[in-house]
Amino acid sequence: MSLGAQTFDTIIVNGTVVTASDTMRCDVGIRGGRIVALAEGLAEGLSAGAGSAVEIIDATGRLVLPGGIDSHVHLDQPSGEGIVMADDFESGTRSAAFGGNTTVLTFCMQEKGKGLRQSLKDYHAKAEGKCHIDVGFHLVVTEPTADVLGQEMPALVEDGYTSIKVFMTYEGLRLRDDEILATLDAARGCGALVMVHCENEDAIRYLIGRHEAAGETAPKFHASSRPVAAEREATHRALSLAEIVDVPIVIVHVSNREAMEEIERARQRGSKVAGETCPQYLFLTADDLDLAGMDGAKYVCSPPPRDKASQDACWDGLERGVFDLFSSDHCPFRFEDDQGKLNEKGKRSFRWIPNGIPGVETRLPLLFSEGVGKGRIDINRFVALTSTNHAKLYGLYPRKGTIAIGADADIAIWDPAREVVIDNDILHHGADYTPFAGIKVTGWPVEVMVRGKRVVSNGQLVGQAQGQYLARDRSALVR
Ligand code: URP
Ligand code: ZN
Ligand code: ZN
Repeated sequence: MSLGAQTFDTIIVNGTVVTASDTMRCDVGIRGGRIVALAEGLAEGLSAGAGSAVEIIDATGRLVLPGGIDSHVHLDQPSGEGIVMADDFESGTRSAAFGGNTTVLTFCMQEKGKGLRQSLKDYHAKAEGKCHIDVGFHLVVTEPTADVLGQEMPALVEDGYTSIKVFMTYEGLRLRDDEILATLDAARGCGALVMVHCENEDAIRYLIGRHEAAGETAPKFHASSRPVAAEREATHRALSLAEIVDVPIVIVHVSNREAMEEIERARQRGSKVAGETCPQYLFLTADDLDLAGMDGAKYVCSPPPRDKASQDACWDGLERGVFDLFSSDHCPFRFEDDQGKLNEKGKRSFRWIPNGIPGVETRLPLLFSEGVGKGRIDINRFVALTSTNHAKLYGLYPRKGTIAIGADADIAIWDPAREVVIDNDILHHGADYTPFAGIKVTGWPVEVMVRGKRVVSNGQLVGQAQGQYLARDRSALVR
């Protein structure tokens, strides 16, 4: 059959197509929301008239990449009394789309006293009809009762909720070691992949108390109350607990070399571990929390940004494969807002400043510019770190995370030469600031399509919110 005889809804021509393994000059033929052809000359023979039903996108000089998958995004999450997250599913997925993403995995927090199913029902209601790109949910287990671990979790994994997160920190969320073990063991039984937030809550609480007793309440003390040792110790403990019950885990938002070394040692012992880092650990330091007045509150997140040596370590980890995932940990709060960073209690002590920063829209350009542009990683590794590995680890591959025949046509077309100075005015999230303001990047996603339908084009949001909920397979790390 001649290629010209095939019918397509859309053909992307003249671009450079990049996957986690290959870089090739070919056209991309799309039909019914999926990629159906990768070849040269797909649009040949389609004269303007005869081919009028086919949309041709000219990607001359551009990179054609799998849409970004950000597997660590918090949207519309209950965040404590009087605190409101800056993004709901509409604004969060809009911002993600403008940043070159086509899928986000968000967190469904088990509310105290509720089961996972009930919490999921609430999250689905929040997301329904609002999403501009596809979404999935990780389950956050905060009360690992016998019913949650024995009944709900296995049933939910079968239903496509195949990953869970547990916290070792935050009052009200953290699990004790025996609860973590029970959760890991249950996950092993049903094939869920467990993500762990590793910080030692008791040490942190002690240090917060010491700071407050000394009248040290400014935002900068957030960083010194959550030292590297608290993260390193918890990382070691999480890895040991996972080893004890022999289950793979993901160590999320790693900020420094010592925690990375724990991951590497666990791998040397034979454990299956995935590692994740985030832009804040490459581009920010604890000095950013040490600004005049309350400005440091804009950078309060956990683990906190560290120092230049830790930034270098995290770059090294991206280059050497310590990290499999580069995610945003987008967790936005408005700054000038009594329901955000500058809530009444937060102004009195860093303890009450909500943890988290926006970043879903800037994740990809920052890594592209400083990573690929500066020669630290190649473009294929960029795709792996920002899309393909997320799909594989969270059960979406090969439907998502690559450009291949049969995959969803989730595609971001990049202008690799576009220069942008990051500023909150050009972003689309609900926060009133970006922690990455002033950073100049080269390379920006200019066209984004989800399942073959354009979502962002020429700097505009196009089409209806047509993102779908994604039921997922089990992780490649578990299978
Ligand atoms: O400060 C952060 N990272 N907030 C988001 C919640 C989390 O721990 O991932
Ligand atoms: Zn976390
Ligand atoms: Zn997070």
